[in-house]
Amino acid sequence: MARSRHYWAMMVLLASSLGITDVGAQGLWPLQTYKSSPAETPFLNVTKLGQTEQGFLFFSPNDIVRGSGHPTIYSDDGQLIWQGPNQTTFAMQPQIFDGEPVVTYWEGTAGFGFGFGQITIIDNTYQSIYNVTLSCKEQNFVTVFDPESLPSCVDVHESQLTDNGTLLVTAVNITQADLSSVGGPIDGWVQDGLVYEIDVKTNEVLFRWSAVEHLAEAPLSYVIAPLGSEGAGSGNKSDPYGYAHINSIAKYGENYLVSSRYMCSVFLLAPNGSVIWHLHGRYGGDFHLELGTSFCYQHDVRIIAATAERVTLSMHNNDNTEFTGATYVTTGLVLDLALQGNKTVSLGGRMWDAAESVYVQSQGGYQSLGNGHVLLGHGAVPKIEEFDANGAIVMRARFGFDNTMQSYRAYRYPWVGHPSTVPDAVACLSAATGQATVYVSWNGATDVISWNVYVNNTLTQSAPRNGFETAIAVPGLPSSASVVVEAVGGVGNGTKSAPVVVGQRC
Ligand SMILES: *[C@@H]1O[C@H](CO)[C@@H](O)[C@H](O)[C@H]1NC(C)=O
Ligand SMILES: *[C@@H]1O[C@H](CO)[C@@H](O)[C@H](O)[C@H]1NC(C)=O
Ligand SMILES: *[C@@H]1O[C@H](CO)[C@@H](O)[C@H](O)[C@H]1NC(C)=O
Ligand SMILES: *[C@@H]1O[C@H](CO)[C@@H](O)[C@H](O)[C@H]1NC(C)=O
Ligand SMILES: *[C@@H]1O[C@H](CO)[C@@H](O)[C@H](O)[C@H]1NC(C)=O
Ligand SMILES: *[C@@H]1O[C@H](CO)[C@@H](O)[C@H](O)[C@H]1NC(C)=O
Ligand SMILES: *[C@@H]1O[C@H](CO)[C@@H](O)[C@H](O)[C@H]1NC(C)=O
Ligand SMILES: *[C@@H]1O[C@H](CO)[C@@H](O)[C@H](O)[C@H]1NC(C)=O
Ligand SMILES: *[C@@H]1O[C@H](CO)[C@@H](O)[C@H](O)[C@H]1NC(C)=O
Ligand SMILES: *[C@@H]1O[C@H](CO)[C@@H](O)[C@H](O)[C@H]1NC(C)=O
Repeated sequence: MARSRHYWAMMVLLASSLGITDVGAQGLWPLQTYKSSPAETPFLNVTKLGQTEQGFLFFSPNDIVRGSGHPTIYSDDGQLIWQGPNQTTFAMQPQIFDGEPVVTYWEGTAGFGFGFGQITIIDNTYQSIYNVTLSCKEQNFVTVFDPESLPSCVDVHESQLTDNGTLLVTAVNITQADLSSVGGPIDGWVQDGLVYEIDVKTNEVLFRWSAVEHLAEAPLSYVIAPLGSEGAGSGNKSDPYGYAHINSIAKYGENYLVSSRYMCSVFLLAPNGSVIWHLHGRYGGDFHLELGTSFCYQHDVRIIAATAERVTLSMHNNDNTEFTGATYVTTGLVLDLALQGNKTVSLGGRMWDAAESVYVQSQGGYQSLGNGHVLLGHGAVPKIEEFDANGAIVMRARFGFDNTMQSYRAYRYPWVGHPSTVPDAVACLSAATGQATVYVSWNGATDVISWNVYVNNTLTQSAPRNGFETAIAVPGLPSSASVVVEAVGGVGNGTKSAPVVVGQRC
């Protein structure tokens, strides 16, 4: 699915739901642009305060002001590594499928706090190898669109692969529910929060769970986001109450861990759909919250350690929303749940950047890295932070002004890109000096060491790779010469650009 016809509507809605009406006094966040590539990507301002873990940064800057978005990989020096297609992208996640590294991401039509699209899976050559879809028609989805012509109804929030070759995704179905207990109509309209497990290769649905079908076990009394609040919805058909707002799913053994943002709840579901346990971030649920363990509106809940007696959860605790204001400092939160005995929830850890605290009102991710490090992506605050095992901040990376650029989550991941394309080169003649400079880049390549420049098939120059695009001065290059640039080193060693003529496209 390329950019849909709903793209602009969605961007406008996204901007208005974030309260953005103009660019503001801060102006536009700068982009990095290149001579050899059409890529344009936000400047990434990386500040290192200590040793960080290995790997590249994977996130998807959605530029709300300029109206573009891309799945993107950066290196820690702020340089672009790979820019994918221009489309609204969520839930971009590097992970393993069939023993091989892949990147999964959502693309489609979004804009109401949810969306209708597909999960694209690409390999390390950046080719799409699987599309995981939920046919809106076959699965009987009701959307907010009229006529309902959308091909696939996978929601924006999750793209988690399992070891079993399956994918966990969320979906939203517009349906009716009795909202009288929360001050709404008996025949109110809600966004049902759905959990799906889908076999990647066959696209077969293996598991489906509906919040509305489990109101007895996950009742509206758990909901913290009030009916009628901006973002949560007012309960009529065109503005359905998104009370569940499921935003992360993970599978442990045969059970499903589900995070509900507006219920401020985490549920562990059995394969038959029943709730094994429920943790409520304000009330405790099946547990007793010790002081300092409260959370709400959280994202990206995972189990990071488990025994028969205890479970340790990690989450991005952005205890703020569009309608609560930016009240609480956003933290990475680790909670220890005693499954037996007194069933207390004790604080396992909390990390935030005290010097430059963020107060995020939507989205966010928590990734456990090696050596006890943690990466926080802050969603609508376009900032990525890395903390060490002591909770000390070791990296800040900002890619936009708050609420004008966003990335749902962010990850650090080791990655070797082997693009199926060839390097892109241009050779430009300076009008002032008459000297030529060759510019070369290779979207997605991660391990080029240097570039060889051939003039009329003769190796004339070699230069070390210097960021996404390397500029190589080639003195005395006549305009009639044909220039080819070759990658040296890494998995694409020896790959040559198409021949270019001096002065072309400069
Ligand atoms: C996935 O869908 C896109 C279009 O949305 C298409 O270009 C691509 O070929 C598909 N990939 C596979 C593996 O079918
Ligand atoms: C990058 O961030 C640092 C630290 O916040 C700031 O001092 C610096 O001005 C920023 N650089 C640019 C070019 O914006
Ligand atoms: C991305 O797509 C949007 C919507 O079609 C378009 O307005 C925007 O100019 C594109 N951005 C880039 C950088 O191509
Ligand atoms: C969506 O809701 C409608 C109306 O309640 C129902 O008929 C349909 O089966 C639901 N679809 C899904 C995918 O839950
Ligand atoms: C639904 O609710 C929204 C928000 O309160 C309101 O703007 C809209 O007019 C309502 N639509 C209908 C059909 O009642
Ligand atoms: C993995 O798939 C196998 C075969 O379908 C199934 O028996 C097993 O329960 C699955 N494991 C999990 C954790 O779902
Ligand atoms: C569902 O599974 C749970 C956990 O295995 C079990 O306790 C419960 O009895 C099952 N419920 C039904 C209705 O089968
Ligand atoms: C709960 O039980 C654990 C382990 O048995 C114990 O360490 C903890 O102090 C208890 N907490 C309370 C509040 O009783
Ligand atoms: C390269 O080849 C072109 C066309 O054959 C020729 O005009 C030019 O002089 C050659 N340049 C060099 C540097 O060999
Ligand atoms: C790249 O390939 C050339 C031969 O084409 C070989 O001589 C060289 O050792 C290779 N370099 C690296 C770094 O793999």
